[in-house]
Amino acid sequence: MRLLIVGTLGGHISAAGQIALNKGAKVSHLDNVEGAMHALRSGQGADLVMIDVAQPVAKLLRAMSQERINTPVVACGLENDSDAAVAAIKAGAKEYIPLPPNAELIAAVLAAVTEEQSSVIFQDPIMGAVLKLADQIAPSDASVLITGESGTGKEVLARYLHEKSKRSDKQFVSVNCAAIPDNLLESELFGHEKGAFTGALARRIGKFEEANGGTLLLDEISEMDIRLQAKLLRAVQEREIDRVGGSQPVKVDIRLLATSNRDLERHVREGNFREDLYFRLNVFNLQLPPLRQRPADIKLLANHFAKKYAEANGVAERPLSDEAIARLQGHHWRGNVRELENTLHRAVLLASGDEIGVDAIILTGEQTTPVAQEAPPLRATPAPQPAAPPTPDTFQPASFDEPETAPAAPATPPTAAAPAQESKAGGDLVGRTVADVEQQLIINTLSHCLGNRTHAANILGISIRTLRNKLKAYSEDGVSVPPPGEADRATV
Ligand SMILES: Nc1ncnc2c1ncn2[C@@H]1O[C@H](COP(=O)(O)OP(=O)(O)OP(=O)(O)O)[C@@H](O)[C@H]1O
Ligand SMILES: [Mg+2]
Repeated sequence: MRLLIVGTLGGHISAAGQIALNKGAKVSHLDNVEGAMHALRSGQGADLVMIDVAQPVAKLLRAMSQERINTPVVACGLENDSDAAVAAIKAGAKEYIPLPPNAELIAAVLAAVTEEQSSVIFQDPIMGAVLKLADQIAPSDASVLITGESGTGKEVLARYLHEKSKRSDKQFVSVNCAAIPDNLLESELFGHEKGAFTGALARRIGKFEEANGGTLLLDEISEMDIRLQAKLLRAVQEREIDRVGGSQPVKVDIRLLATSNRDLERHVREGNFREDLYFRLNVFNLQLPPLRQRPADIKLLANHFAKKYAEANGVAERPLSDEAIARLQGHHWRGNVRELENTLHRAVLLASGDEIGVDAIILTGEQTTPVAQEAPPLRATPAPQPAAPPTPDTFQPASFDEPETAPAAPATPPTAAAPAQESKAGGDLVGRTVADVEQQLIINTLSHCLGNRTHAANILGISIRTLRNKLKAYSEDGVSVPPPGEADRATV
């Protein structure tokens, strides 16, 4: 995790830098926006920019957006300066961190930006077999496609591969292809030359070049637009990229990893994913089994997360009761390890007494009142007014696989179920057009997911791309569309 601090943070720069360093971030500092833009363009890279509100925050955000640089920016300023906070958030900052810096808030922001975790915790023999294969292929330079349902640990495994590779002392760079809009992704991957488009004021180095010598993870590759896939194919085949607007190809030495939670072969059959690219990326396939197929891991991971969230929240570490463990082991875990992690995070905060009892285990699908109201404050929310919406990730509905691989009897998420019940009840839908009902279903599901496009697309069983296109059309028709959730706005 690379943090770039811009400005002096009201004299608190060394305190903030130290907190971030202690959390494992690599910290760099620049005095002003011009210096920051230069660093961001030149591929020195940052995963997060933290800027003093005394600096021209809006100018930086405008310049970044003009030059298609997608790194999340958080603003820091005095606690009681609500005008500065509002201005920074309006300009596009993801969060406002009050000064003097608070270690927990900074840790929470860093954690939200990257869920960096390279240790893969496992015990089950089925995971043992996957890790054995991973150990075997890690040292080679062969491309690896990591597949598995949402939340099974694909990104964790990708970092593990990098750390076990010959490139472990070099950069691990990750690009979430689903989170970055189509028109920005090409620049993000390949960079651009000065003048390549209006706003391209200087050369910008893309993620391929930034990862030079190291590993590049193309996360959620199935979501990449088919036209960009053609350019990616060339980069993968030739290990050579063309910056947007560039005339000279640039050689890159990278190890490529890709992940997908969708059935890529099906996407190939349906013409949405290039077959030649699929074969290039899939030299090795590591398939992560769903959590429900590795029962021995449930208890181990549950204990791990209980400890992790006790530490993170400054509460005493407590063991899970036998009954609580039995309940965890009997659950279906459609959201896999992420769902288990969120369940334990809630449990740590809800438990009272000497152990985490079964009452503190609230499983997805069991809530009866709206999600947003019931969720306890799971993650320190750094922003005061105007705060970001509650983090969807902390109480997300289970993610669904594509229909053909969905579990036999999935519980339907509450909002998505509503129209179906309505139709059974009394034919309320008769007389409405398919487009109209579809629009309502999409908007309701998105609200249910607190604006999180990724989760909503999973529930709806459509690609994020399709969802985005539909939302764009609705907006153009003047329909009010819930704003993106935190996870969508930041490239986390
Ligand atoms: N074996 C594991 N050990 C420890 N933590 C894990 C493990 N597997 C997953 N996690 C944790 O679960 C969460 C989800 O993991 P990750 O992001 O790697 O899943 P994913 O398969 O990439 O999900 P998605 O398809 O939604 O992107 C993360 O917080 C990660 O740290
Ligand atoms: Mg992932």
